[in-house]
Amino acid sequence: MGKQEFIGELGALQEEALKAFLDAKDEAALEAARVRFLGAKGLLPGISKKMGALDKDARPEAGRALNEAKGRLASALNDRLAELKGAALKRDAIDVTLPGRPVPLGSRHLIARTSAEICAIFARMGLSITEGPEVESDWYNFEALNFPPDHPSRDMQQSLFVGDGLLLRTHTSCVQIRVMESQPPPVWIVVPGKTYRRDDDLTHSPMFNQIEGLVVDKGITMADLKGVLQRFVDEYFAEGTKIRLRPSFFPFTEPSAEVDIGCVSCGGKGCRLCKGTGWLEVLGCGMVNPALYHNVGYDPSEVSGFAFGMGVDRMAMLKYKLDAIGRFYSGDARFLRQFP
Ligand code: PHE
Repeated sequence: MGKQEFIGELGALQEEALKAFLDAKDEAALEAARVRFLGAKGLLPGISKKMGALDKDARPEAGRALNEAKGRLASALNDRLAELKGAALKRDAIDVTLPGRPVPLGSRHLIARTSAEICAIFARMGLSITEGPEVESDWYNFEALNFPPDHPSRDMQQSLFVGDGLLLRTHTSCVQIRVMESQPPPVWIVVPGKTYRRDDDLTHSPMFNQIEGLVVDKGITMADLKGVLQRFVDEYFAEGTKIRLRPSFFPFTEPSAEVDIGCVSCGGKGCRLCKGTGWLEVLGCGMVNPALYHNVGYDPSEVSGFAFGMGVDRMAMLKYKLDAIGRFYSGDARFLRQFP
């Protein structure tokens, strides 16, 4: 056998093998083609045996051609195998027998939930849930609530004004006036909503959430106020939670009080949370100042009432033992996911 003949035969075999690899429709067909051409008893090893019959000086070139053919075929085989595997993967990508993937469900924000929970407690005591606007006039936010003209919260440094005598309400107490002026007594309402102040630290956020309560009816006394608040802390924190009322001041209530509860962390022994006092301040309250009745056209000799206001964020922080108010508003899903 001559050198030219050998190389021609090798070339033809290589073409045949390349075509067979490309024609293989699946991995099994490709494997059969591999065995046929490159297997131990395959056609390529078969042809290499014929090298022995070549002239001595023809062998190096023939050997080189054989090695080249082997290399080309091995890489063609690999390429085709990868192609077939990719196609198989694509085909298997939709397995209709697989169980469905669960879609992660969102949940209500902790503040929205806490607010709803607190409102529901008061609703069970007969108060109706109602709301008011977040942009308020000086009248509803201050004047009608008996704030004197020089009260510090009317200062630009304390409240967020939006121009034209309007401001972002600094408390939900404005809704007391809005509801009373729109209807005759009796009034039994609880008012959740966003409020705004120029405050920003670990326990204050420029936007926060309050819940206001107002009950105006015949013969309402401070005992009613205390009873309603006791019922509230029993339900919201735990049955038997202690409360105490400390004298305080708000322009729209008289007398006014701050309400403390027995510390939820140490139970009253004194700890870091309650700064060693055993008590935590949770809300402000008082008997409706008769000055308000004049502003809304109620007769103070006919009715009396109480009001209270609390921070929802603080209520949630106390219940869920959280250290910073900013966590509620950072939008960090890792935090929110802990309260499904
Ligand atoms: N509006 C008061 C505050 O924001 C809370 C309050 C409401 C106090 C109703 C008394 C009565 O601090």
